[in-house]
Amino acid sequence: MTTILVTGGAGYVGSVSVAALLAAGHEVAVLDDLTTGHSAAVPSGARLVVGSYGEQAPVERLLRERGVEAILHCAARSLVGESIIDPGKYYRDNVAGGVALLEAARAAGVGRVVFSSTAAVYGVPDATPIPEDAPLRPINPYGETKRTFEGALRWYGAAYGLRSVSLRYFNVAGATAELGEDHDPETHLIPAVLRAVETGAPLTIFGDDYPTPDGTCIRDYIHVADLADAHLRAIEATAPGDPRTDGGALVCNLGVGGGFSNREVVAAAEAVVGHAIPFTVGPRRVGDPPVLVAAADRAATVLGWRPQHTTLESMVGSAWAWRQANPGGYRD
Ligand code: UFG
Repeated sequence: MTTILVTGGAGYVGSVSVAALLAAGHEVAVLDDLTTGHSAAVPSGARLVVGSYGEQAPVERLLRERGVEAILHCAARSLVGESIIDPGKYYRDNVAGGVALLEAARAAGVGRVVFSSTAAVYGVPDATPIPEDAPLRPINPYGETKRTFEGALRWYGAAYGLRSVSLRYFNVAGATAELGEDHDPETHLIPAVLRAVETGAPLTIFGDDYPTPDGTCIRDYIHVADLADAHLRAIEATAPGDPRTDGGALVCNLGVGGGFSNREVVAAAEAVVGHAIPFTVGPRRVGDPPVLVAAADRAATVLGWRPQHTTLESMVGSAWAWRQANPGGYRD
């Protein structure tokens, strides 16, 4: 049993990870400022502290009071488009706030961190599948600030012996029976498709003239429950004496190593809801690489991670089941 602080534990990935950590017998405290998270998403076995991870002194106190041994850092600003028009917010929260969290951890003697990173650190890849040692050339402040914090983890490892795992998520999707995706604004494809079904809101597919078999972009989708399982394994990999983090920082892609096109996502959703879903094809969205697929073997060999829910039907189907059980999203 490990005592873990989860920042962003009221968010989509954070809450599902909290549930997985609790199920594995860990003790969990959640730190979330609820600007994008939902208190109703925090699993009942975890205690929610409403606050910012970027405030060093209170975070240090919290770490000491709770006897925290490891931090799962899921909280962040995470909208690509917003990051381009408001980069300061991303540098302040994702970089400066993140460093305040690391300083609080250092002062409180917490030497284990698992970090929610992103495929956005790669930018437009030269080739796919993308291995972890591909060049990091982010094309927006979101990806740049995630890359910068990965660098901070590496240097804290060298200077202070911090053990860290950065998990570079590809496209997270799906829901568990209790926990799902509820963002405002919602920019991601699968929720946009389901919202179109739910509310009749117009659905636009951004571009069908990409160099892919059906002309639409291809993404590597990973079920949020599988993602949570990877977090559990990553926390274990930061244990004192574990050779996987003896070098300080470990980085792993989290994807399944295959991809689905935007048209395939719509078709899967049509199969799930049982009727056609009308959409229009609009212009390309700025900054969308044609294909993003992970080379996923490191997470398999180093973390022993094997995704269990790899079909689009399981991801879209679980997301749809959650939306139907929670019309309009979380109550708060
Ligand atoms: N898309 C549409 N219509 C929509 C929404 C999305 O056609 O209404 C398309 C996008 O253009 C893209 C695909 O669906 O081709 C997937 O888009 P998402 O917004 O769902 O996801 P992204 O691939 O853009 O985002 C993911 C992660 C981000 C990360 C980014 C890196 O969710 O955190 O990859 O490029 F920054």
